[in-house]
Amino acid sequence: MTEDKKNDQRECLSYGMVGGSSGSFIGPIHRTAMAMNNQARLVAGSFSQAFERTLETGRELGLDPERTYPDFLTMAEREGSRIDRIDFVVIAVPNHLHFPVAKAFLQQGIDVICEKPLTFSMEEANELVRLTRESHLQFMVAYTYTGYPMVREARSLVTSGALGSIRVVAAEYPQGWLTDPIERNGVGGGANPQAFWRTDPRYSGISGCVGDIGTHVENLVHFITGLEIDKLAARLEIMVPGRLLDDNAYMMLRYKGGASGSYWSSQVAIGEENGLRIRVYGEKGALSWSHENPNILRFQKKGEPVQILTRGSGYLSPEAARFVRVPAGHPEGYFEAFANLFRSFCNVLIARKEGRPSDLLDTFPTVEDGARGVKFITDAVQSSQRDSAWVDGSFPMK
Ligand SMILES: NC(=O)c1ccc[n+]([C@@H]2O[C@H](COP(=O)([O-])OP(=O)(O)OC[C@H]3O[C@@H](n4cnc5c(N)ncnc54)[C@H](O)[C@@H]3O)[C@@H](O)[C@H]2O)c1
Repeated sequence: MTEDKKNDQRECLSYGMVGGSSGSFIGPIHRTAMAMNNQARLVAGSFSQAFERTLETGRELGLDPERTYPDFLTMAEREGSRIDRIDFVVIAVPNHLHFPVAKAFLQQGIDVICEKPLTFSMEEANELVRLTRESHLQFMVAYTYTGYPMVREARSLVTSGALGSIRVVAAEYPQGWLTDPIERNGVGGGANPQAFWRTDPRYSGISGCVGDIGTHVENLVHFITGLEIDKLAARLEIMVPGRLLDDNAYMMLRYKGGASGSYWSSQVAIGEENGLRIRVYGEKGALSWSHENPNILRFQKKGEPVQILTRGSGYLSPEAARFVRVPAGHPEGYFEAFANLFRSFCNVLIARKEGRPSDLLDTFPTVEDGARGVKFITDAVQSSQRDSAWVDGSFPMK
């Protein structure tokens, strides 16, 4: 077990949250994952568009009522002017609010953790990149899956050259939960709240399925392989009649350097729960990782028997080993993946507070990764609108 010693720091940071009222999906998961590290305490929030709901959530979480705010702008301004201001904010609202909320806190000089997809447009994404750089703040985008130890191991294998030059990537993210129009008729007849905003362009953005889960595929492939997209061709489809945004999407990709890839994401694949899976094939070897069995990484050297690498084993690279929390055989999952990313983010903030350099292993998805995701979504939509024509998929920012 390689529990990070810095974990022992007790709540030397404080944070606020926008979104994440009781009954919502990801905000409560963020809070639980953050608490696993003992580094940061929740002290402020604007958890809902309805103030009564914010007050209720604040009460449940034991917050000082003075620091539960009617809206995120008031929260950013008041927190920004406090001596004991929050160190960072976690943004767990539907997609249309990511940009204005992140901008409001950056302008107050407050570091940000924001959910994906970063923004609706490249203009907004570029503005957040600029604001983050100019203010020298930290900005993490919650691409959860990069927080798994065996994803770190996959990346380490690619970087070490164990696969040789990469030729082919096949990645997919099928779900089945939007097979029926539950945004209109969910269980009990009412609209499923999570489905409601995800299928409405006013709250979700220019894409449904690609923006919601296809963006995880793009980020995971880039994180593990380092491959940069050169061009892509996409077909975004609406399978459920009356739905306004894509719920199934195919993509072909050409990467810089000559490798090629295919991505499939779907929310109408009956029987699929959260089937994120990536396979990478190089000249010397191949690897495969599946989110539904995340403690295992399949690695194959050309001409040799397949190796099943397991989380917690002594042979893991330092990049993976530092994220292992409990010994091999005791499963870790989604909460730990979030907690691992939060720990790296908080380690960087603590190092900055103490005036020392950050550990190089403390990497997390940044605002630039978020902007790359927005470029990917935009390119996919454009290609699909042009009858799946190949479009420039490159991401110029460095
Ligand atoms: N990284 C991941 O694995 C992952 C998983 C699920 C969701 N997400 C992302 O998290 C975000 C939230 O998704 P969710 O499924 O939790 O949605 P949700 O509908 O369950 O929760 C949204 C929350 O935002 C609140 N909210 C809405 N408008 C607000 C406002 N003006 N001010 C304050 N709060 C407001 C709602 O009251 C609710 O508490 C989305 O951007 C989604 O893409 C990421």
